[in-house]
Amino acid sequence: MELSFGCILSSKTNLKCGRKVYTFSMAAMEFENLFIITTVSAIGFISVFKSFINFLRWVWVMFLRPSKNLKEYGSWALITGSTDGIGKALAFDLASRGLNLVLVGRNPLKLESTSSEIHEKYGGKVGIKKIVIDLAKSSGKEIAQVIEEEIKGLDVGILINNAGVAYPYAKFFHEIDSELAESITKVNIEAATWITWSVLPGMLKKKKGAIVNIGSASTVVTPSYPLYTIYAASKAYLAMFSRCISLEYKQQGIDVQCQIPIFVATKMTKLKATSFFILSPEIYGKASIKSIGYEHFCLPCWSHSVQWFLLRLLPDALLNWYVFRYFLGMRKRGLKKDSKNQKLK
Ligand SMILES: NC(=O)c1ccc[n+]([C@@H]2O[C@H](COP(=O)([O-])OP(=O)(O)OC[C@H]3O[C@@H](n4cnc5c(N)ncnc54)[C@H](OP(=O)(O)O)[C@@H]3O)[C@@H](O)[C@H]2O)c1
Repeated sequence: MELSFGCILSSKTNLKCGRKVYTFSMAAMEFENLFIITTVSAIGFISVFKSFINFLRWVWVMFLRPSKNLKEYGSWALITGSTDGIGKALAFDLASRGLNLVLVGRNPLKLESTSSEIHEKYGGKVGIKKIVIDLAKSSGKEIAQVIEEEIKGLDVGILINNAGVAYPYAKFFHEIDSELAESITKVNIEAATWITWSVLPGMLKKKKGAIVNIGSASTVVTPSYPLYTIYAASKAYLAMFSRCISLEYKQQGIDVQCQIPIFVATKMTKLKATSFFILSPEIYGKASIKSIGYEHFCLPCWSHSVQWFLLRLLPDALLNWYVFRYFLGMRKRGLKKDSKNQKLK
């Protein structure tokens, strides 16, 4: 076609003209092909290179990057929900790094025993202050007043909002009793907000501090978290809260971070055995402390990070379907256990 078009243009139908146009159009085609191949190769190379750089960065962050000198933030760390699970493991790790601890919990006996265990392991050199407060039964203002009063004169450099409440098992939104809904919003949202509010002024004064909010995989790892709606929504609040105050206070020397655990074997999850993806609180705690002061949002454990990467490869619709089915199964088992307990009463 190009050949005849060339000849029409020249109006003189001779072979020479046809050959010239033919040669030109071949050259144009070759150039076009070369351009396409080069562009596609460049895009391919850039994306492979980018993935390689991301992988190297991931290896650096997960395995090689040294942790910050946490004592530089201040000599005391305040941890809420430090009597069990992740919070207790965090308290031990911070004590091992020579920090003094403000332990916040609702159960005085558990607080006492956590404090004695820490002293037993690390000796009397770790200063421990215990604050007994039920975060589900106090108003935000009351919580702030208590914390402000108790930390007066202490150089609190690290705050970890770890205390959290979840459903006993998966439930539809209308099945949640008001007491549970209130504890979740009070502990997961209100307490974390007001405790941050009461600790921040001290950090602002010295222009140094680290705030860690323990979020949840429900916010990012899966596109939805049906049958744990209020819990997931409360953790989404924490993620956004962290993101915003991280920007507000970065210039003032305060590092705010939202950390995301996936599965940790604690009384909240009722998981007992650990595995590649289900971590012990101690392993999680170590990784969590190592990440303090870095990204405003992170999954501190490498195996959780791998899990997240794999899940992201799946389409949202498939994940939504799977998560819903999985939680329906958990609900069924929970209801069965409930009715068994009712019969035993
Ligand atoms: N475990 C996981 O797989 C997982 C996954 C994602 C996110 N998270 C988050 O990680 C955090 C820690 O969870 P965990 O698994 O370690 O749970 P956990 O073992 O149940 O520990 C929760 C801690 O919070 C305290 N707490 C609960 N309600 C409280 C209240 N009303 N007032 C004061 N303290 C209260 C508990 O005190 P008591 O000792 O008195 O009960 C306990 O010390 C939570 O924010 C949770 O949402 C955990």
